[in-house]
Amino acid sequence: MNSEIVGIGAALPSKCIKNSQLPRELNTSDEWIFQRTGIRQRYLAAETETTASLATVAAQNALLHAKISTNDIDLIIVATATGDYTFPATATLVQKSLQITHGAAFDVSAVCSGFIFALDVADSFIKSGKSQCALVIGAETFSRILDWSDRSTCVLFGDGAGAVVLKSQSDKHRGIQSCKIYSDGRFSDYLITSGGISANRSIGFVKMHGREVFKYAVEKFHQSLKELLKDNELKIEDVDLLVPHQANSRIINKLIEISGIDEKKVLITVQKHANTSAASIPLALNEIRDDVFSKRNVVLLSMGAGFTWGSALIKF
Ligand code: ACO
Repeated sequence: MNSEIVGIGAALPSKCIKNSQLPRELNTSDEWIFQRTGIRQRYLAAETETTASLATVAAQNALLHAKISTNDIDLIIVATATGDYTFPATATLVQKSLQITHGAAFDVSAVCSGFIFALDVADSFIKSGKSQCALVIGAETFSRILDWSDRSTCVLFGDGAGAVVLKSQSDKHRGIQSCKIYSDGRFSDYLITSGGISANRSIGFVKMHGREVFKYAVEKFHQSLKELLKDNELKIEDVDLLVPHQANSRIINKLIEISGIDEKKVLITVQKHANTSAASIPLALNEIRDDVFSKRNVVLLSMGAGFTWGSALIKF
């Protein structure tokens, strides 16, 4: 069996903050942020909004889009680094909100690569016959782990959730053709929180060596794209749509330059959402969701803390 995406949905918090609306004390500007990152605005969760509540709305929208009932869902995976609670898994909170009482629900932790990691797990469950229909969700409230006095990190991130419905089907020429995930823990210090449950009983705030992250993001994006093309006997011209993790438009533009892909085929949404970590790829897909289904070869690429990175080739 193969798995295919049959529905896409998203949810954004109600509060949208433009660069010019960031606190004056940060001593930043729209010009600095836009030139270095391509970001114009971000959505930030209100007190009542959580990763699980955003994930639930994204899942409901994806189910509506797919015209699939909650009864058909036998697997829920939430990719997140900002779950509602230490435990239980945020996926079980989504399961409860959707009133699903069968199947399994769990979280995957791979930060900005989380969505592709979760997609790979769900695809493997479907290919092995363990699951028939899965919700794969990337959801974050990164605003809760930002140091709002550190202008070098807090301007880069936003909150949101995106979801896809993944369904089993028998045509091997459609659906997820390949999904590959990678990590190298030697780079864990480059992008890390200043604390955690077992390290110091806190949640910690985002700390980042921006220049190193930039360098490795370009390298890992390019390396995994080349591998994906080789494994699937494709040329760069064969890619109809490339959806990279949305951290920074300069990283994406560098990838366009070195890979030789036509820039019109590359989806960039970071200006609207900022970096929403595991939510960024499904949020981007949702922006053009009806177009996505008219493309033949769609490539997803991610890179995140760990470092973790991954790629997926999906045929529609
Ligand atoms: N507003 C104004 N000035 C700022 C801001 C800000 N928000 N942030 C930093 N600066 C200042 C610094 O204080 C410094 O000033 P100084 O020269 O007087 O000391 C100056 O800008 C340059 O600082 P750098 O940190 O060297 O800036 P750099 O040119 O490296 O740009 C950036 C920073 C945009 C983060 C860059 O390193 C980058 O794009 N990194 C990629 C990392 C990324 O996007 N991460 C997202 C998460 S990771 C992921 O998702 C894969």
